[in-house]
Amino acid sequence: MTAAVGIVGWGTAVPDGRVTNADLEARLDTNDAWIVERTGIRERRVAGPNETTASLGTEAAGHAIKRAGLVPTDIDLLIVATATPEQPMPHTGAFIGDSLGLRCGSFDVSAACAGFVYELVIGVGMVQMGYEHVLIVGAETLSRIVDPEDRTTTVLFGDGAGAAVLARTRETPGMLAWDLGCDGSAAGLLEVPAGGSRMPTSAATVAGRRHYMKMSGQEVFRRAVRAVVESTTATLGRAGVEASEVTWFVPHQANARIIDAAANRLGFEPERTLVNIEQYGNTSSASIPLALFEAVDDGRVRDGDLVLCAGFGAGMAWASALVRWGAR
Ligand code: ACO
Repeated sequence: MTAAVGIVGWGTAVPDGRVTNADLEARLDTNDAWIVERTGIRERRVAGPNETTASLGTEAAGHAIKRAGLVPTDIDLLIVATATPEQPMPHTGAFIGDSLGLRCGSFDVSAACAGFVYELVIGVGMVQMGYEHVLIVGAETLSRIVDPEDRTTTVLFGDGAGAAVLARTRETPGMLAWDLGCDGSAAGLLEVPAGGSRMPTSAATVAGRRHYMKMSGQEVFRRAVRAVVESTTATLGRAGVEASEVTWFVPHQANARIIDAAANRLGFEPERTLVNIEQYGNTSSASIPLALFEAVDDGRVRDGDLVLCAGFGAGMAWASALVRWGAR
């Protein structure tokens, strides 16, 4: 039997800077009513000039390590999920690890908005392999890759970070089941086309705004609902748990209508679904920890609760995980 592994510390960080729908209305052909009705978003946090993916990730990690009752050097492996790395090279974990004073192994996971659940599954496996305290961080500065002139993406995305320390638990079973998937045939639906080996950065790619995110919104919407429903159904099936037994459904915060559609099909009432997209928008790999840990900190999520997380995004990658909450 594999060892029980759970989240024993958690933390979040968001920039102080806010961009409201009124701010966007002032500079783009959009309006508050459209954004609220189509997405559920009212404002998003945006990194200032001195904030980066690594600085937000480091702040969230510091809170998580403290909450676990540890010091940074107790961490023996660091995993960072991000779609907006500090630089193309080296990996963002190098920067976060250095800021925390770590010299342990670190690597990044690139699975966009499914990134946090991917690294949760990987991290649990690494603890089962023998690591004692694995730190996982989902950190993003999506404001740095959205085209400020593209109203279809700018209104959706925000910046933030969430982190968790994973360790063996004695009293709670921790992660019970999971599902990971990716349909690369849909990679072109959500992408940053330039800046990699396929289309290296050049004056022409910058002039063509190819260094910014491009998205086919409607098709992403359709596939997102399907991926969340199929993935969570697979995870619940593996755990032998009915949707009615789940205490909290924690979907990736991409669009309130995607959340509603998926929750409806799965039978999760709004009272059992964690949603904070109104305040933060889509923060990709940070969105599930921002929603979950806010609810842990305000007492909604309690020890013994069954928590079902589901992420999906560019790739198109998806991931879901069922966790029995409890740090002991
Ligand atoms: N303000 C006002 N009008 C707008 C805006 C805006 N910000 N954006 C688009 N419109 C217009 C369109 O141009 C279109 O106008 P038209 O009818 O004259 O052509 C109209 O609104 C309707 O556009 P749709 O694209 O049909 O709007 P839809 O209801 O599909 O909403 C949205 C668009 C919000 C992008 C939605 O499709 C969506 O959320 N898709 C999923 C996106 C997503 O989740 N992406 C992230 C995945 S996670 C990751 O990996 C990063």
